[in-house]
Amino acid sequence: MRLIVNEVRDNVKQSFNLPGDKSIAHRSLIIGSLAKGRYKIENFPMGLDCLATLDCVRKLGVNAEMKENTIFVNSPGYEGFNKYPGILDAKNSGTTVRLMSGVLAGCGIKASFIGDESLSRRPMKRIINPLEKMGAKIKSCEGLLPLKFEENSKLKDINYQMPVASAQVKSCLLIAGFLGEGETVIKEQSPTRDHSERMFKYISASINKEDNIIKIKNSELKCKDIYVPGDISTAAFLIATAIISNNCELVLENVLLNPGRKNYIDILKDMGANIEVYIKEKVNEEEIGIIKVKSSNIHGITISSERIPNIIDEIPILSVISAFAKGTTVFEEVDELKYKESNRIEAIIDNLKAFGVKSQHINSNLIIYGDNDYIDAEVTVNPKKDHRIALSFLAMAAKNKGKTYIENFECTEISFPEAIDYFKCFYDLYTEQ
Ligand code: S3P
Repeated sequence: MRLIVNEVRDNVKQSFNLPGDKSIAHRSLIIGSLAKGRYKIENFPMGLDCLATLDCVRKLGVNAEMKENTIFVNSPGYEGFNKYPGILDAKNSGTTVRLMSGVLAGCGIKASFIGDESLSRRPMKRIINPLEKMGAKIKSCEGLLPLKFEENSKLKDINYQMPVASAQVKSCLLIAGFLGEGETVIKEQSPTRDHSERMFKYISASINKEDNIIKIKNSELKCKDIYVPGDISTAAFLIATAIISNNCELVLENVLLNPGRKNYIDILKDMGANIEVYIKEKVNEEEIGIIKVKSSNIHGITISSERIPNIIDEIPILSVISAFAKGTTVFEEVDELKYKESNRIEAIIDNLKAFGVKSQHINSNLIIYGDNDYIDAEVTVNPKKDHRIALSFLAMAAKNKGKTYIENFECTEISFPEAIDYFKCFYDLYTEQ
């Protein structure tokens, strides 16, 4: 499916509630269902990644009934999980396969994990190695999918210094550690999103965090209802469009405002953007609130390497914004972006070039040359089947007075199937097969 942006509108004033946050939705099922009993998950997003997780937990014997955006869960708890679920399909979702691997190994479940073409190229050694040290028996295709889990006895605890900054790997090990013997200790060099720590705490697990060291051990869990706050990473595409558009004001309500995840907002502020956040309350250990943003004049900055893990999903959209900043923006040490749903470094550079914007990847840094203004051209975006690339360049269309075409726009169903409805206020747009 091809999306065509025909015309761009100015003076947009709009307020939105967003679909639920993808990272929290995965954890609401994977960590939430470790506890035995009934609970409900509200504002569950309909993106394909989260639905892949739903299929996988159902195969483990979790009963989950969906009514609109609420899931009514009845879980047998981890001790009652099906030990022979057969083949689990994570489709495009790295979070599904990496977090669920912690459950499979932790419960000694015999199963295979498969995924789509993109996921089958992404590195799994980062979870296989530590899980094997804990006693898991996993066969892979030289570190790639499919993964085959053999039955294993109870895992041993691990004291692990994370070699890569990855919330998915950390979460996998926290889950495996919780299900294993003794106390597992994880040390992070750079902080990554901490939703697993918060979700475990919410359901009463014995977990504590001091500085960059997290300790977890098995304990009794409590089933609790979960509300999935609006997705702050999805918000980023709308925020960016507002910033680079003319005389636009957006209000986003009930958005996740986890301190790590709102780092890109701090970066936008550093770039001079007119954006404010108001924390309203805490739900299931996560802060939520309102984001207000207006069209702004921004300038380039250097984003140092320790800030990168917390904005890893927002680098494509921040790159788009940077093209319209005064001066140059540098993202330091971004090579981890090569291992996402696509090689995002290439995807960013190639598509910026299609809009006439210069960028470079030098010594692991990504450099975006700013000072660009409106263009008036027919531009075709190739998102390389990566939802965040398609959505980032949909935002970029705000600066094109000509037509913008986005190929394979269906890839946005991974995280934001409602994208067209939300973007209608900014653009006159339509799709063709
Ligand atoms: C996620 C962690 C990040 C992120 C992904 C979601 C999570 O991946 O890119 O979209 O929910 O834990 P890494 O932790 O592998 O960087």
